[in-house]
Amino acid sequence: MPFRTPSSGGSCTVEHDVSRRSFICGSALAAAAAGVPGPAAAAPPAADAGRVLGPGAIPVTLTVNGTGHILAIPPQTTLADALRTMLGLTGTKVACDRGACSACTVWLDGKPIVSCMFLAIDAAGHRVTTIEGLARGDDLHPVQAAFIAHDALQCGFCTPGMVMSCAALLDSVPAPTDAEVRAAISGHLCRCGTYPHVIAATLDAARVRKS
Ligand code: FES
Ligand code: FES
Repeated sequence: MPFRTPSSGGSCTVEHDVSRRSFICGSALAAAAAGVPGPAAAAPPAADAGRVLGPGAIPVTLTVNGTGHILAIPPQTTLADALRTMLGLTGTKVACDRGACSACTVWLDGKPIVSCMFLAIDAAGHRVTTIEGLARGDDLHPVQAAFIAHDALQCGFCTPGMVMSCAALLDSVPAPTDAEVRAAISGHLCRCGTYPHVIAATLDAARVRKS
């Protein structure tokens, strides 16, 4: 029998069957409980509310880094897993797998999201950009080049996500302040403590882009 779980923004009906609705409700509640800042978590499209998909794989076309891919995706698959295991785009890292660290940040229609909290099937009809899609051939994105110049990585596990958020910031705020860069990476956890270098690199990338 379904039961209701209260949340600050309303309530979600959580069923024992695996469905997109129940997965997203659980994910959203977990993120809300953790007070997670940084890249956005997913919200269910209103038109799909209550629609049960699966449990088998369903055909989905994902547009990733400008290329369309026709895939058969089990509905519970996260975008992070689809990118890594189905498309081999392992530049997107998964660390916590629960929306707490932002390592898995990619862009959805140019905006950063945490891909471990977003269902792959919900990316249909949207543009997904991963770290592999940021450079133009051999020309690195200014943020990528600045990360190298400023030694803004150590183990590198958080780095693709950091770069995606910093690059998205420069698209919306071409000349950010130190505080704006800090806010953009506020949801990103770096166990190696590269934050000062990340901030310096992003501010430098903004200057390079402007000149
Ligand atoms: S792996 Fe997605 S937020 Fe940590
Ligand atoms: S460089 Fe190691 S976690 Fe950030």
